[in-house]
Amino acid sequence: MRFDFPIVIIDEDFRSENTSGSGIRELAEAIEKADMKVVGYTNYGDLSSFAQQQSRAAGFILSIDDEEFGDGSSADTHSVLSQLHTFVDGIRHRNPDIPIYLYGETRTARHIPNNILRELHGFIHMHEDTPEFVARHIIREAKSYIDTLAPPFFRALTNYAQDGSYSWHCPGHSGGVAFLKSPVGRMFHQFFGENMLRADVCNAVEELGQLLDHTGPIAASERNAARIFNADHLFFVTNGTSTSNKIVWNSTVAANDIVVVDRNCHKSILHSIMMTGAIPIFLMPTRNHYGIIGPIPYSEFQPENIKRKMQANPFIREVLKENPNVKPRVLTITQSTYDGVLYNVEEIKNLLDGEIETLHFDEAWLPHAAFHDFYGDYHAIGEDRPRCETSMVFATQSTHKLLAGLSQASQILVQNAKHNEWILIYLMKPI
Ligand SMILES: Cc1ncc(COP(=O)(O)O)c(C=O)c1O
Repeated sequence: MRFDFPIVIIDEDFRSENTSGSGIRELAEAIEKADMKVVGYTNYGDLSSFAQQQSRAAGFILSIDDEEFGDGSSADTHSVLSQLHTFVDGIRHRNPDIPIYLYGETRTARHIPNNILRELHGFIHMHEDTPEFVARHIIREAKSYIDTLAPPFFRALTNYAQDGSYSWHCPGHSGGVAFLKSPVGRMFHQFFGENMLRADVCNAVEELGQLLDHTGPIAASERNAARIFNADHLFFVTNGTSTSNKIVWNSTVAANDIVVVDRNCHKSILHSIMMTGAIPIFLMPTRNHYGIIGPIPYSEFQPENIKRKMQANPFIREVLKENPNVKPRVLTITQSTYDGVLYNVEEIKNLLDGEIETLHFDEAWLPHAAFHDFYGDYHAIGEDRPRCETSMVFATQSTHKLLAGLSQASQILVQNAKHNEWILIYLMKPI
């Protein structure tokens, strides 16, 4: 599919009748003749504002000719270079790969320090090559940049939607064809557009991979997301964190297992208790005089406290009679309540590693935490976070809530323990 990413040219002389102006216009024409869009700006204004455009461009050409360095005094040079710095840093902060070219005269090149030069894809010497050749070079770099953008599943999906293959799978609208047969259907088709309908395909389309056994482009995208979110494994789920929670529980808990649950947990955890037939003990959060639910006190997490609660539960007493060493199977904590209460995960791991087999953090409202230092240890799985000795750590996150996932997008993250690894066989367990 052809995506719309123009080359952005920034040159004060873009419309001037001088050599710099005619040089950059010839280059722009050559790029357009080679079938790539160009957007030209004639005013530097605040160069840092161009950096905001990194998401819509295929590349930048910033023209600086000798005149801009004024009389060559250190004050003039400093002013141009500091603008240039802001521009390059602003773009690189968000986008390490987009091509940036400087276009200028030989004297300009001498002024540019190494820390700027190394961020550039090239310095184009005015009039030193034919515009057609320079255009081809820039387009080659821009295209290879665009080619790297799509992660594996999105790439496979756009290819599938575009390559004209008929869909004989469900959904029954068959790539939107069904909607073309009635006036209201045509409205629907026009509203959502053909691409959405061609891309609304069945899990059984082989070239897209399988969500159920995690193969093909889906698996490749899940591995990519695991890298980004610092997890050992990551699985996409299409029915919200309500379903992610149930998947975690159905893969770890069986009937009559003991489970330790935040009293303020989400309904889907209560459903999980019912579906698995587990025996719950609850950790009690505080509640203030306005009735607002606060955190679970540290004392509630103490293994002795959990054991006391187990002893006090008549159903668990029966289990303990048969197996006095029985341990709870899973702990599920709401990691970020609606009021923003968070727990220090490393403290919980220190307390409960080995006491409970799986530590599960329901991070429906916290998928963004891995991307800001502010959250520190107050989310489940992050960069350089130590492993438990034996307990597995799971996080379930609604990427459709505080990230940009489409409605109901969710994911399950897994961090292996030092002596315990997540294995695919869990996926085979009947739900
Ligand atoms: C703590 C918690 N867990 C799970 C969920 C369910 O999330 P989803 O809407 O992605 O199914 C919610 C929803 O609000 C929630 O607050």
